[in-house]
Amino acid sequence: MIDTTRTLALIGSAAGGVEHIRAELVEPALSRGWRVAVTLTPTAGAWLAASGELDRIAELTGLPCRVASRMPSEPSPHPPIDCYLVCPATANTVSKLALGLGDSQALTTAVEAVGAGTAPVVVFPTVNAAHHRHPAWKWHTSALQDAGVHLLTGERWWAAHEPRSGLGQQIPWRRVLDELDRLVPPR
Ligand SMILES: Cc1cc2nc3c(=O)[nH]c(=O)nc-3n(C[C@H](O)[C@H](O)[C@H](O)COP(=O)(O)O)c2cc1C
Repeated sequence: MIDTTRTLALIGSAAGGVEHIRAELVEPALSRGWRVAVTLTPTAGAWLAASGELDRIAELTGLPCRVASRMPSEPSPHPPIDCYLVCPATANTVSKLALGLGDSQALTTAVEAVGAGTAPVVVFPTVNAAHHRHPAWKWHTSALQDAGVHLLTGERWWAAHEPRSGLGQQIPWRRVLDELDRLVPPR
């Protein structure tokens, strides 16, 4: 019988590939027995609202796809979380996460998760070679690794091509899901 006791918080930002999260992450994660609560950065939220994916994800998961923060009088619409996945993670989102900036619901959720340390936080940056060479990149990624964040970086995960030259590169969705299963095995 499929185990549905694990809950995954999937946080998506505005990088190429985010348009595929329903088919490549949400549906397979549900099949693997995760409950999935999706939160998107404002830009990613606008992209997926325009394509209709926001509504499709909400229908599929049975949970609202969060973009804006809740009203103070409203309860949190997402359940307690067993594992956080930030994928795809833009350079912008990775940098803000490292600095602890919670200027959107997506970052508020991820920043709190890093600080709380009660559930694994997995981050898959889709960044290019220019982002890598930015002087702050090294500090930001070191800070996240020192905090225990599972950063899926390096050629094995994502080759950092020069800007606009790595078109067609695919996120290894299945291996990302395997990593989640390794960190929080099915119960
Ligand atoms: C089509 C498109 C694809 C993009 N892909 C990436 C990407 O793979 N990595 C990245 O760091 N930024 C990418 N960007 C730039 C980000 O969307 C931009 O920095 C944005 O401000 C990120 O906001 P967010 O991190 O709040 O989602 C892309 C922009 C566009 C228009």
